[in-house]
Amino acid sequence: MTDGRRRAAQGETADAAPLARRGVDAVGGAAVEPDRPTGPLGGIAMKLHRRDELLAQGVGLLASAEQDIRIGNGRPWKMLVETPVEIRRGTYEVERVGAFTFLGGVGASFRHVRSVGRFCCIAGGVVTGQVEHPLDFLSPHPVFQGAWGERMPQVREFVEQNREMVDKSRAAYDDMSRSRYGKIEIGSDVWIGEGAFIRRGVRIGDGAVVASRAVVSKDVPPYTVVGGTPAKAIRLRFGERLVERLLAARWWDYGPAALAGADFTCPEAAVDRIEENIASGIDRYAPPVYALMDDGEIRPVRAPERAAP
Ligand SMILES: CC(C)(COP(=O)(O)OP(=O)(O)OC[C@H]1O[C@@H](n2cnc3c(N)ncnc32)[C@H](O)[C@@H]1OP(=O)(O)O)[C@@H](O)C(=O)NCCC(=O)NCCS
Repeated sequence: MTDGRRRAAQGETADAAPLARRGVDAVGGAAVEPDRPTGPLGGIAMKLHRRDELLAQGVGLLASAEQDIRIGNGRPWKMLVETPVEIRRGTYEVERVGAFTFLGGVGASFRHVRSVGRFCCIAGGVVTGQVEHPLDFLSPHPVFQGAWGERMPQVREFVEQNREMVDKSRAAYDDMSRSRYGKIEIGSDVWIGEGAFIRRGVRIGDGAVVASRAVVSKDVPPYTVVGGTPAKAIRLRFGERLVERLLAARWWDYGPAALAGADFTCPEAAVDRIEENIASGIDRYAPPVYALMDDGEIRPVRAPERAAP
């Protein structure tokens, strides 16, 4: 079986293959045409001699050794990041990351993520978008889709002996995966605590907070603090009226210009100032965007287009 078919059977084609067919889009991010071998794991680490140079451009890479930052999880990939941004150690199957965001740390694994917004704090150990196996089939094991252990002779023999049913199972799994599991979207001004788990397809609203070790299986509304297993609302960050004003203002779209003179300790006063700043006709924040590739390449893409939604 080819790599592509194997990934299909693992439920990865549902979103990855169409993206790969679309190829490289300047600011679209995501999977790229596999027209070159996937780079070495942690290729970014090979570029660390450029770390200071990149930092001066607003791309902070916090990694101490090879293989610390792995773009694409072993697949051809392009991750678009706005600047400034800080990428810590972890695996990144993420299409776009917004300005002023930091994410990653020991054990972090971001899979099936379409976008992370601006001004987000995403702690170490956060795990997102792991592959979902089929619960309604005979067994959740991926061997029944021909998606496991193909280098072992016993497995190859099993798959060959059951070729027709394996193909049927793979097609059914692909359909299920496509229809049930979308990509994860994380808004702006989101804080995700250490070790949280975010399920495939979940949307986390602007201003939300996910408590450490939460298991998030459903969408999180804006400005809501959630925690526990499964995650439930703990409280709202602010009153309803203030939340409405913040969501209408979308200060993160304008960045520092919207925040000039705002009292960061007093959200009610800050939103007055933010509204005034925006009403005065400031431009939306449009920072340079960089592409982090699976092979460790980091290059500017058309600026000043946005990487975040
Ligand atoms: C969620 C968090 C932000 C606290 O929010 P808070 O609103 O100040 O929480 P409070 O201390 O007022 O507690 C409110 C309720 O939430 C519960 N709670 C707090 N943290 C929780 C967690 N991680 N999981 C489940 N419930 C939690 C409290 O027990 C309390 O419950 P109660 O109302 O039944 O007594 C904090 O607990 C947290 O998880 N921080 C993340 C730290 C981290 O990972 N930092 C990494 C740096 S990026």
